Amino acid sequence: LDNGLAKTPPMGWMSWERFRCIIDCDKYPDECISERLIIEMADIMVKDGYLAAGYEYVNIDDCWSELERDKDGKIIADKNRFPRGIKFLSDYVHSKGLKFGTYLDYGTKTCAGYPGSLDFLETDAQSLAEWEVDFIKMDGCNVDTEKMVDGYIEFGRLMNATGRPIMYSCSWPAYFEYYRKPTMYPDYEILKKTCNLWRNWKDIEDSYESMLFTSDYFAEHAERVAPHAGPGHWNDPDTLLLGNFGLSYEQSKAQLAIWAVIAAPFLLSNDLRTVTPEIKELLLNREIIAVDQDPLGIQGKQLKKGNGIEVWVRPITPIVGNEYSYAVAFVSRRTDGHGYAFPYSLADLNLNSKNGYIVKDLFNLKRKTFNLLQNETHEERVNPTGANFYKFTPIK
Ligand code: DGJ
Repeated sequence: LDNGLAKTPPMGWMSWERFRCIIDCDKYPDECISERLIIEMADIMVKDGYLAAGYEYVNIDDCWSELERDKDGKIIADKNRFPRGIKFLSDYVHSKGLKFGTYLDYGTKTCAGYPGSLDFLETDAQSLAEWEVDFIKMDGCNVDTEKMVDGYIEFGRLMNATGRPIMYSCSWPAYFEYYRKPTMYPDYEILKKTCNLWRNWKDIEDSYESMLFTSDYFAEHAERVAPHAGPGHWNDPDTLLLGNFGLSYEQSKAQLAIWAVIAAPFLLSNDLRTVTPEIKELLLNREIIAVDQDPLGIQGKQLKKGNGIEVWVRPITPIVGNEYSYAVAFVSRRTDGHGYAFPYSLADLNLNSKNGYIVKDLFNLKRKTFNLLQNETHEERVNPTGANFYKFTPIK
């Protein structure tokens, strides 16, 4: 969507994967979807350096509103959990230098049963502008897939008419491609014009299997899907799981590397209060963030897999002469404890620069760079279920 936003994939935090629809604040005061949760996350994003590293959006997902609209048909925040209302929260988030996002659903109700926007598109677009919202995720439960394309376009038009630039995250492809499994794929050219990002596939869950289910989709459908990503319009494989329960340290590296290669939004959905120093270091790794945020905005792909090692490659800057640099992730699905040594040459990676490449280890920034020349073979030792991640820059 050409609204000046999302020139690189958006970065931030989002409530859903970790906090779901916890609404009982008496029982779960630290976790319920509430003003307090959002304020605490916003504070930590600033204090712990996430904002400085680029994570700027703080987004509430489902389960934030009252079950009924008010007498004017407006959607309103749950009075107990958000006693000072959404505008207050938006102001608070902005006062921290962050951006504020929230959630609606194009159907009659949200997936969790809160008011949907179907008959209230104009009212809701107006509310977003009044609250000074910066990011909206428009979900797609409880509505026919046939209605979605026109409806999402219409909502985008109404938001635009308010004069406030709002980053627009659309969920219709996920409903087309996964949830309703119709025979038709979404039209990605329409998506590019209508939305800044879009969820393509199933919700991510807090497990290694779920992460692989998503990365497999992006590997298998890369030819069809990847070319539609670029500045202003991105595929969204769903949130990063790092900092939660399901991924080991090695598996966390695998998700981070794959998500950076496929130019995914870096949206965290974890409890920032309890992220370990090791995981925090991964999330704040500037070199990996720079790959994800590369200004060319070319979505990378899985190049090959063999012997349980997947190779994922993304063209990035700097362009040397007329040749790209590349981010290359070696992702292991192997479980042999010593770390399988994977032999490769530049030709195996389709890296053709004739003087070879300077190779920089992105997970181990203290390690010295090394040169890899054409016709040399290099062995890459990848820890079980983990990933190694490098930047290859052509030698002049
Ligand atoms: C389905 C979406 O895909 C999820 O990301 C989340 O927003 C839930 N709905 C909320 O109900």
